[in-house]
Amino acid sequence: MKLRFAVLAVAALAAAIGAGTGQAQSTGRSVWEGIYSPEQAARGEAQYVERCAACHGATLNGTGEAPGLSGGEFVSHYDQLTVADLFDRVRTTMPQNDPGTLSRDQYVEVVAFLLKSNGFPAGAAPLDRRSEVLATIGIQAQKPDGAAQSGN
Ligand code: HEC
Repeated sequence: MKLRFAVLAVAALAAAIGAGTGQAQSTGRSVWEGIYSPEQAARGEAQYVERCAACHGATLNGTGEAPGLSGGEFVSHYDQLTVADLFDRVRTTMPQNDPGTLSRDQYVEVVAFLLKSNGFPAGAAPLDRRSEVLATIGIQAQKPDGAAQSGN
């Protein structure tokens, strides 16, 4: 059991090193580059109010068991991951009492709203609905130097 875990850990480490030196992550875009549209985030907010706010709070500050979905602690959970990781987390486990019951487009909209609520800028084009595209957009808690300014 222990050995098996060690083998898995080594494999994961090798994969991480591979990703670091390889293509997708390093050539991809960043959440700081305006990767969703304001209209999309507004639709996501409507979904949030209807499907998420009862547990996560009207101001995304969390209630009871449900954690807050805005602020440094929330963003730190996704730092150095991709938008696909956040999307999959939401799509496969939320709403906690009824997972998977929004459409793919609605989940993308909710994710756009979460990005907006955490200070990531809107841009001209909507967030793509395809996982393989979302997997090329990195989440960095700290704004990188020289990131493109959005018009928003
Ligand atoms: C019935 C209550 C409930 C509803 C409704 C709900 N959640 Fe959650 N959510 C939770 C709880 C409890 C947790 C913490 C336990 C867990 O991770 O499953 C959580 C965790 C999360 C996390 C992980 C937070 C982190 O810090 O990584 C995200 C993201 C999230 N919810 C988003 C949503 C979104 C978006 C919706 C609406 C589509 C939603 N939730 C609806 C109860 C709920």
